[in-house]
Amino acid sequence: MTRTIKTLILASVAALAMGVSAHAAGLTVGFSQIGSESGWRAAETAVTKQEAEKRGIDLKFADAQQKQENQIKAIRGFIAQGVDAIFVAPVVATGWEAVLTEAKEANIPVFLLDRGIDGPEDLYTTMVASDQVLEGKVAGDWLVKDQAGKECNVVELQGTTGSSPAINRKKGFEEAIAGTPTIKIIRSQTGDFTRAKGKEVMEGFLKAENGGKNICALYAHNDDMAVGAIQAIKEAGLKPGTDIKVVSIDSVPDIFQALAAGEANATVELTPNMAGPAFDALEKLKKDGTVPPKTIITESKLYTQADDPMKVYEEKKGLGY
Ligand code: AHR
Repeated sequence: MTRTIKTLILASVAALAMGVSAHAAGLTVGFSQIGSESGWRAAETAVTKQEAEKRGIDLKFADAQQKQENQIKAIRGFIAQGVDAIFVAPVVATGWEAVLTEAKEANIPVFLLDRGIDGPEDLYTTMVASDQVLEGKVAGDWLVKDQAGKECNVVELQGTTGSSPAINRKKGFEEAIAGTPTIKIIRSQTGDFTRAKGKEVMEGFLKAENGGKNICALYAHNDDMAVGAIQAIKEAGLKPGTDIKVVSIDSVPDIFQALAAGEANATVELTPNMAGPAFDALEKLKKDGTVPPKTIITESKLYTQADDPMKVYEEKKGLGY
């Protein structure tokens, strides 16, 4: 055996021992992240970086600070660098055709993470995301069951206007309550998925609705807005979780503390690990051309106060949220 062959074999054994597959190592992936608007988003960023490192993938990370124009610029940069794949969490659903066509023409596969786009499906290889309509439906079903026929005025904090989760989570919730005329959405406004905006908009809802006395429940498209709103409810002299029921989406650690304190009622879990399945799909694609399914759907699990929230909090708190 020549010295070169021996060296190559030793290098492969070392790579395998480190858990780095021969195909993953050496890949370069550009990731255009939306920003850091929520605890969930921070966890998604952390998990993506960890997954890349574990697999020996060189991850080029670009934070778009909630701006689509920054995402488009980053994607063009990745194309110019000739990366092996582009991951993008699209801040809004529309306006992607031109840049994704450029990626397609450069033969760079595009993976959508956690949000969808309005546009032809051939502009991307696969999308790893939750069923966002289902998330809204799970939240709405919980409220219908909880209210058991009682009159209930709901205020809704929507996510970023024009984003797929804001559109779909609204739709799913509305579908869930459609057969229950006693439950009505009386106010609905965007809180942009942030804690500060969630608080500010909730303060407005409380003022407009007799100090909150007309409000029975809050539906927030993410936990961060719910946590901000919980603060506003307390400052208005009401008890969140009791005077105003709180149901939201994400399952970040802070909402489990609120559930344990009786200040929130239910949350629908969204895994921050969108990158793991996307990297798996990319590795298979590069290895033998296996084309992944168009959508890879993650689970949407409901948690309530009955689910030992402090135990879940302990499990989640160190995971990058
Ligand atoms: O696209 C997923 C959503 O984006 C999360 O639910 C929210 O917290 C984030 O900002």
